[in-house]
Amino acid sequence: MDELLAYRDRFPILADCTYLINHSLAAMPAAAEARLLEYARMWRERGVRSWGEGWWEMPVTIGDQLARIMGAAPGTIVMHQNVTVAEEIVLSCFRTAALRDGGTRNRVVYEEANFPSVRYLYQAQPDLEVVAVEDDRAIVDAIDERTLLVPISHVLFKNAEIQDVEPIVRRAHEMGAYVVLDCYQSAGVVPFDLTALNVDFAVGGSVKWLCGGPGAGWLYVRPDLAERLEPTFVGWQGHARPFAFEPELEYAPGVRRFLTGTPNVPALYAASAGYDVIEEVGVVRIRERSLRLTQLLIDLLEDAGLEISSPREPARRGGTVLVRTPDDPAVHRELGERGIVCDFRPDAGIRLGPHFYNSEDELRQTVAQLVDIVESGAFARHAGAAARF
Ligand SMILES: Cc1ncc(COP(=O)(O)O)c(C=O)c1O
Repeated sequence: MDELLAYRDRFPILADCTYLINHSLAAMPAAAEARLLEYARMWRERGVRSWGEGWWEMPVTIGDQLARIMGAAPGTIVMHQNVTVAEEIVLSCFRTAALRDGGTRNRVVYEEANFPSVRYLYQAQPDLEVVAVEDDRAIVDAIDERTLLVPISHVLFKNAEIQDVEPIVRRAHEMGAYVVLDCYQSAGVVPFDLTALNVDFAVGGSVKWLCGGPGAGWLYVRPDLAERLEPTFVGWQGHARPFAFEPELEYAPGVRRFLTGTPNVPALYAASAGYDVIEEVGVVRIRERSLRLTQLLIDLLEDAGLEISSPREPARRGGTVLVRTPDDPAVHRELGERGIVCDFRPDAGIRLGPHFYNSEDELRQTVAQLVDIVESGAFARHAGAAARF
């Protein structure tokens, strides 16, 4: 038996169902509940003193824990509500024409398969030109002297393909553009080192492989940039002396200037329980297990004659395997009724995302159920099922 299966007891939901949706909302660690109770106890017993006893600093101290997981230096990550907010803060650094080479640098080279929320944000900016390209290779070719930002995903949400980040960063820097790496689908399952990647910014959240729950988005800023960029989306936590309540803005040094207002304290309590487990297990061990589990899934699905729509080769394979079925929404609905929790994405297939705590037996049972649903036609009674979580 794999030693990582010993962790199953720490994730209560695993006793009730086959939980293969870790690319969406990973299982809650039992410790998260205890952390939330601790938050409530602080609020109840310590009241306003809680700010000085840890709460105020949490966007930075929790960010430091994430930094350890992602190969970043302490003091380079701050916590935010979600990726969309983090990307807006990045964008806000380039709001003045001077920073955009007198307004001539207004292109965002954008990979079509990025998460849509990020795309909507850039599309909604009247002064930016969004150049959407097909894949990571095309991004390199599209970056030119008019390119301001290159938002890319480390692992694509729709088909879990790992993107080749280094050539993009190299080209962007040659052309004077900035790379924003969205690590939401890689953090906690694919090892990476933000310092070595030399990206300018990185963003992500915690609901997926980090097992940290909603409301704990994060923003990494390369240390030299954090000292000199001036985000125009800023608030009192980003001031050099927030408690002086001065009328004029003076940016805090380093990554703190990328903060806004009052932090989302309960979410940060919950998130740290997930990061603790990920740190304890280690992303390298998680990746080894993930590759074994996803390979087993691929083999089982292929043996059953089903079509796989995610990458097979380990170097391009993230944590999720996608499989096509005659009617993904209906098959997904039937799987749910049989206690198998997964999801699907339009034109992509059913997504099966095992984490380190899933067992080989769960995968065998899932594929057996999937084959039965497809071959028996049991999914037909859900025809017309709509997309949902
Ligand atoms: C790659 C990626 N980026 C971003 C998001 C979500 O963005 P936000 O935190 O703004 O909801 C997701 C999924 O929810 C995702 O898969």
